[in-house]
Amino acid sequence: MSSSTLDLSGLNFNLTEEHLAVQEAARDFAQTELLPGVIERDTAAKFPTEQVRRMGELGFLGMMVSPDYGGGGMDTVSYVIAMEEISKVDASCSVVMSVNNSLVCWGLEAFGTEEQKQKYLTRLATGEIIGAFCLSEPEAGSDATSQHTTAIDHGDHYILNGTKNWITNGGSAGAYLVMAQTDVEKKHRGINCLLVEKGQAGFVIGKKEDKMGIRASDTHSLMFTDVNVPKENRIGDDGFGFKFAMSTLNGGRIGIAAQALGIASGAYELALKYSQERQSFGKKIFEHQAIQFKLAEMATKIEAARLLVYKAARLKDEHKDYVQAAAMAKLFASDVAMWATTEAVQIHGGYGYVKEYHVERLMRDAKITQIYEGTSEIQKLVIARELVK
Ligand code: CAA
Repeated sequence: MSSSTLDLSGLNFNLTEEHLAVQEAARDFAQTELLPGVIERDTAAKFPTEQVRRMGELGFLGMMVSPDYGGGGMDTVSYVIAMEEISKVDASCSVVMSVNNSLVCWGLEAFGTEEQKQKYLTRLATGEIIGAFCLSEPEAGSDATSQHTTAIDHGDHYILNGTKNWITNGGSAGAYLVMAQTDVEKKHRGINCLLVEKGQAGFVIGKKEDKMGIRASDTHSLMFTDVNVPKENRIGDDGFGFKFAMSTLNGGRIGIAAQALGIASGAYELALKYSQERQSFGKKIFEHQAIQFKLAEMATKIEAARLLVYKAARLKDEHKDYVQAAAMAKLFASDVAMWATTEAVQIHGGYGYVKEYHVERLMRDAKITQIYEGTSEIQKLVIARELVK
């Protein structure tokens, strides 16, 4: 078993005053600026433009980026704390935040050139523009090495052709990290990651998906036809694209685990409150043991998920191996989110089934956490591989 599973020594879960300040700021923002209108944005599948702008202003879009590039210079624990609070209320906003922080900003800061950081990261970290991470294709979802999008080398530039699917921030991003195959003979070692700007000739934003959950976030397919991408927009060395995507997704999974945790704890808090207000058979429903059992189990599983999420974040902050911990956190927290939101709807009875009480939205939002940034089955694969490393 890998040491990351067993070694809890050196992991300190005490939150600092800075962590608590981030939690309060995120909670306050979520309650005062995200909660009003969240049902309407979900119903209309309306991108939260103003709310995302405010997230940028408040520093939630580049939390871990160095202040040298306009970021908050915070640790991963701060980031998961903020993700949990924002996801309790609006998972459509938190997916924008997660992709921008974990997949785009982190990837650029870790592997980009100084010029790329000055030109793009500074704008992404402040929310002047947001980013998108483009790996999935119509025929390459879990099987990410099977990229059909091509980036043919033409000396000082690449010519990009292909289609990407399920791209979060697809319509609203300004910078897109696009994985594409340059040398098919080299398989995954022939893949490159290219930074493409919105509006480049030959780059067309396709249809917006009409989704079950996280409906206010915009998910699009993207089409590239003979798009000319200068070589200075390649991230890392030639052939580094697949490693780039995998390394970035390791951290992304911590963000989605935190999102799942937030969805679960948001639903739990609503159910606990409702159980102390709603009366049946002459008493508050909380007084019924059947409801107490549900809430006790929800609280326990959510706490276990929180420990896994914090553990993965701490390992990342301590520059230890966090691949397995991130996959475990995402696997567990996303299952807890699906289960706990379903229980929250059950506790609310008929009221849980209507939009006004929020838990039906959280239940719909929970489902995607078992699918994106690697399905639960992919997380099990990643965990199993690490067991025998
Ligand atoms: N971290 C770092 N490197 C990794 C890695 C990881 N977790 N997993 C694999 N790699 C590296 C391997 O070391 C190997 O590199 P070398 O050949 O240089 O040694 C290379 O990647 C290929 O690895 P494998 O042979 O193991 O690849 P595989 O095809 O068997 O499987 C996989 C890899 C784990 C299944 C991978 O394809 C995967 O993670 N798939 C899921 C993709 C995914 O998460 N997609 C989500 C889309 S993004 C999204 O959802 C964002 C959004 O909009 C919200």
